[in-house]
Amino acid sequence: MAPITPQPGIMEIALYVGGQSHVEGVSDVLKLSSNENPFGPSPKAKQAIAEAVAEVHRYPNTDHAPLREAIGEVHGLDPERIICGVGSDEVLQFLCQAYAGPGDEVVHTEHGFAMYPILAHAVGATPVVARERERVTDVDALLAACTERTKLVFIANPNNPTGTMIGGNEIARLADGLPEGAILVLDGAYAEFVEGYDGGVSLVDARDNVFMTRTFSKLYGLGGLRIGWGYGPKEIIDVLSRIRQPFNLSEIQMAAAIAAVRDRDYAEFCRAENTRMRAWLARELAALGVPSDTSLANFVLARFADVAEAEAVDAHLKSRGVIVRRVASYGLPNCLRITVGDEAGCKRVVDGIRSFQEARQ
Ligand SMILES: Cc1ncc(COP(=O)(O)O)c(C=O)c1O
Repeated sequence: MAPITPQPGIMEIALYVGGQSHVEGVSDVLKLSSNENPFGPSPKAKQAIAEAVAEVHRYPNTDHAPLREAIGEVHGLDPERIICGVGSDEVLQFLCQAYAGPGDEVVHTEHGFAMYPILAHAVGATPVVARERERVTDVDALLAACTERTKLVFIANPNNPTGTMIGGNEIARLADGLPEGAILVLDGAYAEFVEGYDGGVSLVDARDNVFMTRTFSKLYGLGGLRIGWGYGPKEIIDVLSRIRQPFNLSEIQMAAAIAAVRDRDYAEFCRAENTRMRAWLARELAALGVPSDTSLANFVLARFADVAEAEAVDAHLKSRGVIVRRVASYGLPNCLRITVGDEAGCKRVVDGIRSFQEARQ
């Protein structure tokens, strides 16, 4: 009998490891390992979820029109060019499924989001890594990594786990230099944290090879509900819509997302608090001798002297119930990614690192 074998690429996948959320024997846990919103979702989104529960015996709407219209209205976009997914992860998956396969290449940055190589392998394509320059996306390296086999180029802007971002001119240069038939995907999971940044909308509108993804998991505090979306040329939306399952989003997800995106006051409060506490956290870390790059996202990538110190700080924080993210799997073994919490949360992290240093003296 022929052996049962999976499709090419699947066994190359290293399983995604999510942020830890429990510490053995510690009850007062502060989870700063998954870039979640410390304030949770808008009260209006919670209310919408409660109201939508009554109708869960009904299949959901299949075209997501009310959600696409709400997103379109808030962001000034054509709803016909928006597609919604189970987290932005699913939209990234649609892109890989639709445009890449065995023999094709999917380019991403050195410290790019872990799902890019996973999704590339899942469709049998080859992930190709482009080096960064001091933890910043390097357009020249990305262009050099492209070949005629390149089908997709993923960059997160700002990037996870580095928190850094590149400017519009650089992104335009990247889009202009891509080989024919390749799509530039601007992953905007953290775009809303950057004041005045449209996530690349203007570039999507100006080119036929640029696509943007966004999420409700970060600024909107709905990571547990899994809602994301993409915006791109009509031709690409038409392609992706063919492989999207008709019932991929529930009415609960859609109702929550509509309420969340329309609650601009709450979104602005979360963004402003993140900016304030991110600056405070980076400053306090620097005062303790722990450098970090300027982050535009809702986390800070703290750099320690070496791997042993990063591991020891991580263990010390955990012993105090503070969970941050080790990023060795991202090629950053001497770093810890720390989600920006609320004021009390940020103080707890800094106190923890200070007490680690004092105990060592
Ligand atoms: C850069 C980046 N892209 C995409 C995602 C996926 O987010 P979601 O699937 O929750 O929308 C994440 C989540 O951490 C991320 O960091």
